[in-house]
Amino acid sequence: MKLPFFLASRFVAGEALEESLPVVDELNQDGLHVALDKLGEHVHDREKAVAARDTYIDLVRTLAARSDDELRNRISIKLSMMGQLIDEDFCLDNLRQLLEVAAEHDMFVRLDMEGSDLTQSTLDIFESVYPDFPNHVGPVLQAMLKRTDRDIDRMCELGVSVRLCKGAYAEPAEIAYQNMSQIRKRYIDYMERLLEHTDYSGIATHDDQLIDATRAFADRHDIGPDTFEFQMLYGLRRTTQREMAAEGYNMLVYVPYGTEWFPYFSRRLREKKENVWFVLKNILFRQ
Ligand code: FDA
Repeated sequence: MKLPFFLASRFVAGEALEESLPVVDELNQDGLHVALDKLGEHVHDREKAVAARDTYIDLVRTLAARSDDELRNRISIKLSMMGQLIDEDFCLDNLRQLLEVAAEHDMFVRLDMEGSDLTQSTLDIFESVYPDFPNHVGPVLQAMLKRTDRDIDRMCELGVSVRLCKGAYAEPAEIAYQNMSQIRKRYIDYMERLLEHTDYSGIATHDDQLIDATRAFADRHDIGPDTFEFQMLYGLRRTTQREMAAEGYNMLVYVPYGTEWFPYFSRRLREKKENVWFVLKNILFRQ
């Protein structure tokens, strides 16, 4: 059974790209950068993976045609949509084709991080393409995973732009911190290393403690706001996004769209009670 889209409309820009582009324009007009993500994951069929690659390629072209140099609009993708679960070499080939077009348009492609069963494979694929596309691809690391300490070291060694987030997937205690104060502590340590050793990493969080820690660290170490960015999700902390951009911080909004919104939507509901409230309000006050 397919749920009606209006339930997810707080968090997902539209089911079609055409509905999502006006959202991108509006965010850009408010001084916010955008990462567009065509939703979908865990593809097991080669034809679907190739179609996903072609959709991403079209997305790069569409976005590049609408963006000027001042905007750091880009795309964010899941490798499991481009064949990672079928055959890593096939996925790598799809990713290379996408990155060639992205590099032509000087557009950055962020590789979202999925569940821990895909972490090593995602980082391996990233490392295979990075030498050829050093300015156009970067991974996501999740502060909750215990292995991230090592992965941060490696990304700092490469100097690559990383998106740092807490991690949205339920992971077992053997491999992931479960306690929020411990996750925050790890997050702050990783943020400090990324700000010092990488160029233009993304601090992806809605958490004031982490945002304040980032601002304070950058101030103390004379790290200019042009050398990193904050990132938030579409539909969350909308006023804060605009206030921080007006203060001079780079703020990127992750804008998902597409018909396969249910897994993304359910991760948002699991994360916070307030997100459930947004959905209930949509149901109660729908005209
Ligand atoms: P969290 O939801 O833990 O909230 C902590 C505190 O922040 C709250 O108690 C409150 O004080 C404050 N807060 C949060 N939301 C608020 C609101 N709306 N209003 C007021 N205060 C609020 N995950 C992943 O596994 N792989 C990925 O690739 C990505 N990609 C990604 C991109 C971007 C741009 C973002 C922002 C996040 C991701 N994530 C992700 C998701 C991420 O891992 C994490 O699950 C969510 O961001 C939730 O954690 P937060 O740190 O944002 O705050």
